[in-house]
Amino acid sequence: MKSERANFGSKVGAILASAGSAVGLGNIWRFPYETGSNGGSAFILLYILFVLMLGIPIMIAEFVVGRGSQANTGAAYRVLAPGTRWKWAGFMGVMAGFLILGYYSVVAGWTLEYMARAALNGFAGKTPDDFIAIFTDFSQNPFRPVLWMALFLLGTHFIIVKGVKKGIEKASKIMMPLLFIIIVILMICSVTLPGAEKGLEFLLKPDFSKVDSGVLLSAMGQAFFSLSLGMGCLMTYASYYSKNTNLGKTAFSVSIIDTCVAILAGLVIFPAAFSVGISPDAGPSLIFITLPNVFQQAFGNFPVVAYIFSVLFYVLLVVAALTSTISLHEVATAYFHEEFKLTRGRAASIVTAGCIFLGVISSLSLGVMKGYTLFGLGAFDLLDYFTAKILLPFGGLLTSVFVGWYLDKKIVWDELSNRGSLKVPFFKLFIFILRYVAPVAIGFIFINELGLI
Ligand code: TRP
Repeated sequence: MKSERANFGSKVGAILASAGSAVGLGNIWRFPYETGSNGGSAFILLYILFVLMLGIPIMIAEFVVGRGSQANTGAAYRVLAPGTRWKWAGFMGVMAGFLILGYYSVVAGWTLEYMARAALNGFAGKTPDDFIAIFTDFSQNPFRPVLWMALFLLGTHFIIVKGVKKGIEKASKIMMPLLFIIIVILMICSVTLPGAEKGLEFLLKPDFSKVDSGVLLSAMGQAFFSLSLGMGCLMTYASYYSKNTNLGKTAFSVSIIDTCVAILAGLVIFPAAFSVGISPDAGPSLIFITLPNVFQQAFGNFPVVAYIFSVLFYVLLVVAALTSTISLHEVATAYFHEEFKLTRGRAASIVTAGCIFLGVISSLSLGVMKGYTLFGLGAFDLLDYFTAKILLPFGGLLTSVFVGWYLDKKIVWDELSNRGSLKVPFFKLFIFILRYVAPVAIGFIFINELGLI
């Protein structure tokens, strides 16, 4: 079976595919609205702290389990710890992937709608109020968002079935640098809009008086979500890495790329939002209202430029989302394919069908099914809260305990040093963080926020 396993062709390909998983709607859609709802710059500092303190070590730990086991997430723990209950940790990861894809694909569908609108020049001459109305009408419509969501999942399905290697690796190599360039240009436009200073102040002047346990939990959840951690997503990818891939370096590169894109997205959204007077705590609708505005206002005198930029931006947003949905889909597909000996196509069909089902429910929960709630949250918000703020940190906690305490240190060292061929100066610190820092930090935040004591 191992010879069937896909492999990334090159080191750059492995980094860019993993960065493709990490960089997505989490950076450009979720990060800005979470920052906006949690008071701005203090949240960002906490987020960066969590990336450094928990994100990078746990990402390396996932790499160790994935490449060390050469197995899908559902089987990886079982391979390294046969006959123990650790297998449930992998199983939980596969489930979490399903749940995330079940609402992520709804937002991914929105990006398709906005790409189509941009292409049909639907934003020209609109005011900020128009954009609010457009988004509200669209997201609450019972059909259109559902169709786009299903279409997005079918696109993901198509690529997964074809095999990821050439498509994804190649697309990532072109699209990731392009995304970066576009975002930098947009940032320059955004910070030069009239009144942009207030947005910059919101981003750069920390106000720690707003930090409570809810903000801590949000910052931690955002770090896990954005880095694709806590459910074995990068674990599955690492099982496709070559034996020469430097795991530590790859984790650093992926985390740095991901964090830069998030900060840049913040520098695009907030100056623009303040400039047109949109409240930064608008929630999930934030970028769908502010961004079309930036294009109209910044290039008001050059409609062609405004047009080109809007189309380009939404194309790139779609691609960023796609490289992430593929990585989520791959976790469950690899699991069904390898564990139940189904063909890749069958395995992928089960995953796609399950996600479309969840996607319909989460999409409708924003409109016609608004009244149906659990713990006061509709399906869309519930899936987001439950995965990002509970399942992912909990999964990360399990991975750090597994690699820090359970796994033979010889295996860990072999993986990090590529069997002795690399120096691993951070090894002791790495184990220390996995053993003590990560479990205590995650446990503390859980206990505080969920009121477990
Ligand atoms: N990190 C991606 C983003 O920022 C989303 C994602 C892909 C993800 N795979 C994941 C989130 C695994 C959590 C776990 O858009």
